[in-house]
Amino acid sequence: MQLSLIQHSFSLRQLNTFGIDARARHYLRVESADDLRAVFADPALSAMPRLVLGGGSNLLLTGDYDGLVLHMCGAGREVLARDGDVTLVRAAAGEQWHRFVLWTLEQGLGGLENLSLIPGTVGAAPIQNIGAYGAEIKDSFHSLTAFDTATGQVRTLTGPECRFGYRDSIFKHAAGAGLIVLDVTFALPNDWQPNLRYAELARELEGVQAPGPRAVSDAVIAIRSRKLPDPAVIGNAGSFFKNPVVQAGQCAALLEQFPTLVHYPQADGTEKLAAGWMIDQCGWKGKSLGNAGVYEKQALVLVNRGGATGADVVALARAIQADVQARFGVLLEPEPVFI
Ligand code: EPU
Repeated sequence: MQLSLIQHSFSLRQLNTFGIDARARHYLRVESADDLRAVFADPALSAMPRLVLGGGSNLLLTGDYDGLVLHMCGAGREVLARDGDVTLVRAAAGEQWHRFVLWTLEQGLGGLENLSLIPGTVGAAPIQNIGAYGAEIKDSFHSLTAFDTATGQVRTLTGPECRFGYRDSIFKHAAGAGLIVLDVTFALPNDWQPNLRYAELARELEGVQAPGPRAVSDAVIAIRSRKLPDPAVIGNAGSFFKNPVVQAGQCAALLEQFPTLVHYPQADGTEKLAAGWMIDQCGWKGKSLGNAGVYEKQALVLVNRGGATGADVVALARAIQADVQARFGVLLEPEPVFI
């Protein structure tokens, strides 16, 4: 790879699903670990602030980026081997997540169907441990390889080493910040059973006899298409806030005041509250501030109504946080990364 392929003052408009018009001072398409080796062997480049970009679907650009954008574009996916009860499949970081899920289904492999239609890339999926409809990638994760910017070596990380949590992993913390995901391997069950723990998904499949992975995927796609905006049509980054996790006592106190509060008991005794419900109760659904708005069908999703800047979205997010805090005493934490 030649570093002369670096582009300058590069528009990121097409590379973030919010559709924010911001520029990167330097931009490079990365296809392989060798490309990264070349970048990190260059003292000037390795010293620059850098942004590792996948599908740009969990990102809010609040201004131009004064550094180097490394756009992870590596392609390829393969069935590796049957290994006891599972089949291992691997995909490169730049593969689109949903296309990869559909490909696993075409191979006759179930396990990822609850995560159908999530925007973004395979390489970004472990960073925030993507999750939906009762599944998270940590449930099907086997391992990944990552380029270690500190050593220039490629490392393999297992699930426990990735320290997955709710929309969280080591890659969001100092210990993993220098790692760039190259490819991800999943362990998909040979003896597949549907995961219909999420009530809305079970309801969608009522009347379907013994649904297979494809039927579950179709149901997830149907639900998502009904309530989440297609980023190709309306700029957005999915859920803009995480669902806050509170102590059982705080949840009980809130329930006395707000008996219809939607909450999910967690294995450790804490309670996850539905942020979308709280934002909705504050009257924000369908409302706008500047060119940013709250999606009509799901209050957890902020949208670009056309020409929104990162500052428009931030102003809206702050106003929502303030209202939810005042009414419910809970601080909502944004899910996308602010750049
Ligand atoms: N609700 C409202 N009003 C709204 C939105 C939601 O009352 O405007 C209520 C719903 O009726 C429901 C509850 O809040 O009772 C939860 O809503 P929903 O099932 O739509 O899911 P969510 O908690 O809003 C989470 C994930 C989504 C994921 C869905 C399905 C987070 C931050 N979000 O949303 O993930 O698709 O569950 O599993 O955990 C994403 O991360 O980008 C994302 C879309």
